[in-house]
Amino acid sequence: MAQFFVSCQLGLEKELAVEIKKFWTRMIDLDGQPTRVQMPEFEEVEGGLQFEINEYLGYQINLFSKLANRVLQRINKFEARYFDQFEEGIRKIEFEKILDLDLLQRKVQLKIEAHKSRLNNEKNLTEAFSNAVKSKNIKVEDKAQQTIFIRITKDRVTVSLDTSGEHLHKRGYAEHRGEAPLRETLAAYLITKLQQHSAIDKSLIFLDPFAGSGTLIFEALTASIPNLNRHYSFLSFKSAPKLYKSETWRKNYRDLPQEHLAHFIGCDLDEKVVKSFKHNLELVQSKFGLKNVNVKILNQDSQNLDIAKVNDSEKVWIVTNPPYGVRLSDENTKSLIQKLGKKVEGLILIHPAVWNLKFDSLKLVQSEDFNNQGLKLKLSIYKLTGNN
Ligand SMILES: C[S@@+](CC[C@H](N)C(=O)[O-])C[C@H]1O[C@@H](n2cnc3c(N)ncnc32)[C@H](O)[C@@H]1O
Repeated sequence: MAQFFVSCQLGLEKELAVEIKKFWTRMIDLDGQPTRVQMPEFEEVEGGLQFEINEYLGYQINLFSKLANRVLQRINKFEARYFDQFEEGIRKIEFEKILDLDLLQRKVQLKIEAHKSRLNNEKNLTEAFSNAVKSKNIKVEDKAQQTIFIRITKDRVTVSLDTSGEHLHKRGYAEHRGEAPLRETLAAYLITKLQQHSAIDKSLIFLDPFAGSGTLIFEALTASIPNLNRHYSFLSFKSAPKLYKSETWRKNYRDLPQEHLAHFIGCDLDEKVVKSFKHNLELVQSKFGLKNVNVKILNQDSQNLDIAKVNDSEKVWIVTNPPYGVRLSDENTKSLIQKLGKKVEGLILIHPAVWNLKFDSLKLVQSEDFNNQGLKLKLSIYKLTGNN
């Protein structure tokens, strides 16, 4: 058993717990079977969840979670009031038992956070850490492959290993991006909102009229598919289960979909961005093993979009991150969204708080604060209601 901390954007802690519950039994035990281990109690802390679980399950959260930023494994906790106590505490940690130090060229990087502590000098802490691991021939270097997180609150030091490697929003498909792309983890959050109102299946037409390089559509396409085709730090841990040392470990995840039946339409007027969208779609398909998808990519002004359903069992949802105050004036964007909203079942969008959209048939069913790269926005959901 080990202690884990899964970090996420502030405010998304509850959604992260719901997400982990949803994919829990898709994770596997060491015999390759769906896990029979009971889900732990999650302790919600600011910016993430903390819990204790078998190491191999904690590591797999990296593969399945779309909302998590990182998965950290706590490896030690100790008290330290002075730098020599800190150094002594670090000296006792048996990094060599967990990490394959030779593979890491005996280098690690540190991320240090200190609150309300006498030990709040990053330079001195780094020096004390370096002294403590010198006898093991470990060096602290910026940009080393493995990161060790050190958090000091009052006199309590927590040492954690990063099990993720690159930030988890880096799915591996976004080689080219447009301007102001939405971070994949936040796009995935919009998709969890859609799933609360509609299944993403063959009855759905998913429209993003301001699709950019396609992030929202890609997160919808891959919402239930683990990301098996990127590197994670835990894969090179000495302590990683044998399962993950095998070349064929990915084959243990069975029943992965090879096609997606929902219809996706992405529209953008910028030709260059549309090219990126097309390129990234190929990457999404190859990285997530999706042989067949229904994605229509249109290079045009969404003013001229004709939303036509093929049959009555289909419903259209718009999920989008529109431009605000950049190319079109906000008034134009707003009226365009209001026009498109006339023909749909629902609409999920991010927008400035001052926007006050009005629809004849859709009702505002939810609106919450949404922080996108420091911009204070709203995430709103409009939907046809029974009264219409
Ligand atoms: C905020 S970006 C969307 C980013 C996208 N969610 C992503 O993550 O890549 C807005 C996009 O809307 C496009 N756009 C602006 N006005 C448009 C219009 N009238 N019709 C179609 N696309 C438009 C811009 O070219 C830009 O790519």
